[in-house]
Amino acid sequence: VSSESSSRAITLDLKNFVMTPATRKREVRLSELKDYFSDPEAADKILSSGRDPVVYEYYEYVVEESAGHLSLGLTIIYPGKVGKEYFMTRGHFHLKPAAEFYYGIRGRGMLLIQSEDGRVEYVELRPGVIGYVPPGWGHRTINTGRAMFVFFFAYPSDAGHDYGIVKEKGFAKIVIEEKGRPKVVDNPKYTSSTI
Ligand code: PA5
Ligand code: MN
Repeated sequence: VSSESSSRAITLDLKNFVMTPATRKREVRLSELKDYFSDPEAADKILSSGRDPVVYEYYEYVVEESAGHLSLGLTIIYPGKVGKEYFMTRGHFHLKPAAEFYYGIRGRGMLLIQSEDGRVEYVELRPGVIGYVPPGWGHRTINTGRAMFVFFFAYPSDAGHDYGIVKEKGFAKIVIEEKGRPKVVDNPKYTSSTI
């Protein structure tokens, strides 16, 4: 019998929001996300002022992208808006019907989920709240606060990611600020047809 200490222990630094070890670290800037917002002209305005802020970043620890394994990660969404719409992740569907959970660590946000037939639900994520994404549902997270929104996630490693549907059609609902508060409203650009 042999025993070894290894990278089976993953550490979340809850002060600096760093996950170690990580097999991947990615920063997503506004220029890459512009077309996901309902008002790309508002994004152009920010970009043409010479700024290209990091909207979100995430760490991922993937042991193996095969059945039975879990992928773990930490996402940080910065506070900000494009027009009235809050900073958010691109969002995606999994290629396989795989669930996911999000555990709120810092700040305030929303987890928006959408079934393949267009039903939308949302969970308000605060520190200590877990949001559950059922298999087959698309998901996006949104920072509805004025500080960093940080959460931990886990999902089956062989889930795969489909970003295409969201890029093409968006989600049926968007989250905007109205009178200083977050509001979930219909996405004016969303079309449920597949033409
Ligand atoms: O798997 C997830 O849903 C999360 O890890 C996201 O990938 C992460 O928050 C970044 O969002 P996206 O993959 O939509 O860019
Ligand atoms: Mn996912």
